[in-house]
Amino acid sequence: MIAVEDLLGVGIFKDFPTESLEGIIARLQEKSFPEGARILSRGDPGHSMFMILNGSVAVTHGNEEGAEYTITTLGNGEIFGEMALLAGEPRSANVRALSDVRVAELNQEDLRELISVFPKLNEALLRLVAQRCTRSFALQRFTICEREEIISNLSAHQLPDVGHFVGRSRATEEINATIEHLASTEANIILISGERGTGKLLAAHLIHLQGAGGRRPLFHLDCSHPLPILRDETAATDAREDSLHLEPAQESALFGYGADTESSAKSIRRGLMELADGGSVILEKIDLLSPGIQRLLVQYCRSPSFQPRGAGRPISGRVRLIATSSRTLEELSDQRILDPELLALLSGQTLSIKPLRARKKDIPVLAEHFLGEFNKKYSRRISGFSEEAVNLLVNYDWPLNVDELQQVIERAVVSTSGDTITSSQVFLKLNSFADSGRFNLFELPLLRKVLTRPGIPADLRFITLPFILMLIAFTIAGPVRNNPANLIVWTLWEPLLILSVFFAGRSWCACCPLPVIGEWVCGSRKRFLQVPELLTSYGPWIAIGGLIVIIQSEHLFDMFTKAHGTGVLLLVILACAVVTTLLFGRRAWCRHLCPLGMMISQYTAVSLVELGANNDVCASHCSSHDCVKEGNCPMGLHPATEIGSKECVFCLSCVRMCKHGAARVNGRMPRLDELRKGGEEPSDAFFAVFVVASVLAVKLTDSGILRGFSAGRSIWNQGLWAALAQYIVITMFFSGLVILVSRLAFTGEKKRDYWLGGYAYICLALSALLNTYLHELIYESHLLPSSLVHVAGFGALNTPDWLTPNLATLKILPPAITLTGGACSLALLKRLAGKYGFSAASYRAHQAIMFLVMMLFLII
Ligand code: CMP
Repeated sequence: MIAVEDLLGVGIFKDFPTESLEGIIARLQEKSFPEGARILSRGDPGHSMFMILNGSVAVTHGNEEGAEYTITTLGNGEIFGEMALLAGEPRSANVRALSDVRVAELNQEDLRELISVFPKLNEALLRLVAQRCTRSFALQRFTICEREEIISNLSAHQLPDVGHFVGRSRATEEINATIEHLASTEANIILISGERGTGKLLAAHLIHLQGAGGRRPLFHLDCSHPLPILRDETAATDAREDSLHLEPAQESALFGYGADTESSAKSIRRGLMELADGGSVILEKIDLLSPGIQRLLVQYCRSPSFQPRGAGRPISGRVRLIATSSRTLEELSDQRILDPELLALLSGQTLSIKPLRARKKDIPVLAEHFLGEFNKKYSRRISGFSEEAVNLLVNYDWPLNVDELQQVIERAVVSTSGDTITSSQVFLKLNSFADSGRFNLFELPLLRKVLTRPGIPADLRFITLPFILMLIAFTIAGPVRNNPANLIVWTLWEPLLILSVFFAGRSWCACCPLPVIGEWVCGSRKRFLQVPELLTSYGPWIAIGGLIVIIQSEHLFDMFTKAHGTGVLLLVILACAVVTTLLFGRRAWCRHLCPLGMMISQYTAVSLVELGANNDVCASHCSSHDCVKEGNCPMGLHPATEIGSKECVFCLSCVRMCKHGAARVNGRMPRLDELRKGGEEPSDAFFAVFVVASVLAVKLTDSGILRGFSAGRSIWNQGLWAALAQYIVITMFFSGLVILVSRLAFTGEKKRDYWLGGYAYICLALSALLNTYLHELIYESHLLPSSLVHVAGFGALNTPDWLTPNLATLKILPPAITLTGGACSLALLKRLAGKYGFSAASYRAHQAIMFLVMMLFLII
């Protein structure tokens, strides 16, 4: 039963006297609806209106895709259903009970009669409808604005930073002119072709923006990965079946589908062609568009309307299709990839973008442009590039075009601490990771756990630092002969240092105490001089020079047996490391000048481990460049660069930093090819030839073979100066001979002849160096225990036999190593000669020299 009190709470009866309400109650009919019941349905005829006495209802609309959304909720005292009554139109919305609802229903006739008695009721109703309409309109406007904003955001997301292609080459001028022309044409389908990374999407955006529909939406479909169809969860398919869905997925992404579609789609979907009305759709990799969809596009281009599958009516609109492909129109036609009719529509409407290597004039301009962008992004003030850096950029072939250049500049910006980008910050030639013959060591959980622990291996410096300081102190202050520290240096440290490279690459450098002492001396100093280009370019040559001086002075000053010389040598190296660190900061010494670092970096070619990164991951997923940022790599390297595996000190910082898991440590079989890879710098040939020459010089001189030959000539007389003179003459003679023989190689560029011919000696050089120190381990290490006992003050004791290990059985090793080194050098020579077409004379002469050197190393 409806009571007067019930009506007192109804808004439209607010000021009505109680007696009037009693009269009204007689015309009302009480009704109840359970929670969730639909009270009114949109579109139904309206014959009555309702007043809510208890409970609440939701006023809802259903969209075309069948989804229902609430416009408003109404509660006690509010009315609904009045609009259809007053306007004489069908119900404008659905009304659903949100809780159990009790209402009072007033039918049309009774309302009319009441209005004639109470005109105030009409006024109140009209006011209510007006209010609801205004609010509804405002809400609708808001939704429209919001939708527009979403759409404009959608395009703004992809808004390019530039209004034209950057560059000053003729090709770029032509690209800009073609973009302008294509944008202004009426053509509703355009093809942009170009290699990966040439900027096809930028061109597509510019054509859209500069065209008539530039302010309309722009959508993008990657034909290889169309958005998946919304399928019923019950219709789950496996990955294999997904490839079969490419065509339906492309169709539904472009054209959408209606409610009656026969596919397993869940609901209605609006396609990009409908959403982009008046604007453009970019079809990336059009060559992957299925033939069926190509035909649909042809039909659309002919008469701009389409009917989504399962929809009742066709949709018409005007959308410009901008297709991109890495193949040219001719290739698409020759390889019969595109429908002939589609090809006909595309002809004359194409833009072909040349690769970056074909428009090298653009490189410096583009580099400056990206530098400006990244300066802004990273709040830096880098003023430009050094001349060598620009030369590097210009000389490179850019297989991934402008995208690669952009990434290289970004890496350079994040890794540089100075105000110019120098060549060492330009990371080129990122490798596509070769998996064959390699095993990811991180797949072994224990190894992964150990290697990714912070402080591995850098914390080992807490052991190596006192060790080296002790060696320096002992070699200088201890006895000259039989000095245990000296024996440790030559019979243990040096040979084990080289042997460690086979198993752990250059990881000794990660825990080498020399840079640590340098950093100590620098204290908290943060700013250093920028490493000059001279040092980056000539550093390896200086390091090789230093190595030759070390090899020769070891023999000249008899360091293997006399400790003071060793002490002075270690002190000089330490002083050089400290001064370089003081001037140029952390790791400048290791990276550019350290002779020992240079030596062991050459051995990394035969190392069983390597550090690398999957460049595909770096190129596609990485935007943070954490591995090179803020000096995270102490050597200033990128893990994916070829040079990385040679200079990398295995500090594993990049492995820990990389969020994408791109950096990893591989186990691999050392191969001759790896050696070939390392020989791309002229300094590698210089290293190989001069190391062989130096070892030969000291061996020949020390063996005394030349003494008979030199009898009577003063310079060949014994003594320090005489030995030095012999070293220099033999070194220069041998190096000169190799250069001369290399000049016979072919009529190519002089430097290149030497660099290729000379590099073939690398295996001989590595075996000669290894043997030099292995000799000390085999022949002298047994002295170490007794010298330790002696120094400890127990000299009177006879050292027991078990403390003086006899390594004589290892004597077979040096000749075996020499033979292996010689054979590998000969094989490498053969390979290089075949690859680069050495002349027969040069090839034979190199062979003879190698053979002779091998023999000499075996007998002396
Ligand atoms: P009617 O069109 O007869 O049926 C649906 C009812 O929902 C409508 O009358 C109104 O009472 C109510 N309604 C529709 N739109 C709104 C709105 N924007 N705000 C409040 N109520 C509404």
